[in-house]
Amino acid sequence: MFLNQKLIIGRDLLRDVVIKSKKALVFFGSPHESGYTAELTNKFLSEISRDYEYEILKAYEQNIKPCIGCGICDSEFTCRYKDFCYIDNLIKHSSLIIVASPIYNLSFPAPLKLIFDRMQPYFAERVVRGEIRNPMNKMGIMLLTCGTNCSEGAKIIKRQLQLIFSTINTQFAGQILWKNTDNEKNFKMSRSLIIEIKKLVYKIKNRENIT
Ligand SMILES: Cc1cc2nc3c(=O)[nH]c(=O)nc-3n(C[C@H](O)[C@H](O)[C@H](O)COP(=O)(O)O)c2cc1C
Repeated sequence: MFLNQKLIIGRDLLRDVVIKSKKALVFFGSPHESGYTAELTNKFLSEISRDYEYEILKAYEQNIKPCIGCGICDSEFTCRYKDFCYIDNLIKHSSLIIVASPIYNLSFPAPLKLIFDRMQPYFAERVVRGEIRNPMNKMGIMLLTCGTNCSEGAKIIKRQLQLIFSTINTQFAGQILWKNTDNEKNFKMSRSLIIEIKKLVYKIKNRENIT
């Protein structure tokens, strides 16, 4: 009934009904709600919000246990801890995975790494038992900020994420790196960074035939 009404009203509303069913999940790795990573994330989300519903999962607010490598998940898709079900559900229902994080010691901040380590049941399912053979059907991107003018941390994180993404059926689709933030005087993004964001959004939308 509701859908029919929208169909009659016009094509733009129909577009909203159909397209907004796409879901994006943001793994947010910064402890700061209004820092550089938040600024970058908000800009990116404002560009995709017409097409995606999104949920932001703040790593520093999650109260989950670290993986202890017990191996229970080697034989079946399960975990000795039951505190990951909510995140598991979000992953399963999202077609776009966004990792937004500051670089800490050339890697992720610890709370974000903890979450990724808990994805071991996916790894076991795909690699140890070889049960998942379908092509990767999600897209994954990374939005990073770092204090120095150096890209080494981003390269290391990209390598880690390619592995992590592949275990959750996700293909690495692009990245944005906001460097040198420790020498910025305000939170203003450069014009070239904004153009990079728009290009990445275009690429994502095109690959899903949204436009
Ligand atoms: C514990 C810690 C480790 C850091 N390690 C790096 C690093 O390895 N390379 C780098 O360029 N910046 C490093 N930084 C700087 C942050 O990446 C940078 O300030 C970031 O933009 C902060 O983002 P935020 O405003 O979202 O907190 C580090 C900062 C902290 C607090």
